[in-house]
Amino acid sequence: MAILSIAQNEDRARRHACRTLSEGGLIALPTETVYGLAADATDGRAVARIFEVKGRPRFNPLICHMSDIAMARRYVEFNAMAERLAEAFWPGPLTLVLPLKPGAAVHPLTSAGLDTLAVRVPTGFARSLIARFDKPLAAPSANTSGRISSTTAQHVAADLGDRVSLILDGGPAAIGLESTIVKPTDRGVDLLRPGGLAAAEIEAVCGVRLARPQEAAPAIEAPGMLRSHYAPGAALRINAQTAAAGDAVITFAGAALSGAENASIVLDLSPSGDLNEAAANLFDTMKRADEAATNEIVVAPIPNEGLGEAINDRLQRAAAPRS
Ligand code: TXA
Ligand code: MG
Repeated sequence: MAILSIAQNEDRARRHACRTLSEGGLIALPTETVYGLAADATDGRAVARIFEVKGRPRFNPLICHMSDIAMARRYVEFNAMAERLAEAFWPGPLTLVLPLKPGAAVHPLTSAGLDTLAVRVPTGFARSLIARFDKPLAAPSANTSGRISSTTAQHVAADLGDRVSLILDGGPAAIGLESTIVKPTDRGVDLLRPGGLAAAEIEAVCGVRLARPQEAAPAIEAPGMLRSHYAPGAALRINAQTAAAGDAVITFAGAALSGAENASIVLDLSPSGDLNEAAANLFDTMKRADEAATNEIVVAPIPNEGLGEAINDRLQRAAAPRS
């Protein structure tokens, strides 16, 4: 496995990535949300390799990454609401689930044979790579299925090792949480997955309240939406007020848990109480807590506003009973 630094030679990184993708290979690449494990979305064999490398138990639909709205239009239909959301938030951490155009070249394995496709336009290197490659990239998070998503190239290397031949290192992901997924419908807009773009920001643009996952039409059962997901090795308890000996404590805004003096480590997601900073630190902090815990990981309450909704979503899944 090779790690190429984007900062050192961006053009070389892009050329190398394009070559690997056109040969049907996989690359791990940074996006503003998390690192993705990417393949040419039109190449069924390459997409199948994604599922194999991640050890995903089933073929679930993947997000297709586009360079801009013009490219997305080649594959999906935009209604007025979709236009407005794309206009407001692309490039950025918003994924739209839209009707697939008949005959669109995306491989059915990418869309899991559905008649809709999840599309998003990432920022930065990923976007420029897609523009050069001129085909959409299917990319789930670059981690073994069920594990915590990777927010640095080092996390990807530690998790996937030689199962991926090329890792592009763009430093720590700026947002640190997967994109927010919404689906415009006849009735309004469904929130399929809270994520790196706060629901309130989307609501301000679309003018309607997003239907939350419990209220929305039951979407397909997908790994990020399984109750137990993002699971660290140690058991994890949320909304904790107390800590026991050997616990790894994850706190927020300096909140003190009683008994924390006997904890194996105390990590603060954001000492200043900034939820965006907490989101960016979440997955790395969970990994560090997991390494340090000899008992449980206990997490202080996190406010449920802004990106707190997505942070609590991921923590609830990490805390859910394992199957
Ligand atoms: O931030 C992100 O979104 C990251 C980075 C790499 O871009 N990608 C990511 O992809 O999280 P992935 O494959 O792990 O998430 C795909 C999720 C599925 O679990 C499912 O919930 C939803 O997207 N999805 C995809 N296609 C869908 C569809 N046609 N209908 C409903 N949900 C869909
Ligand atoms: Mg994932």
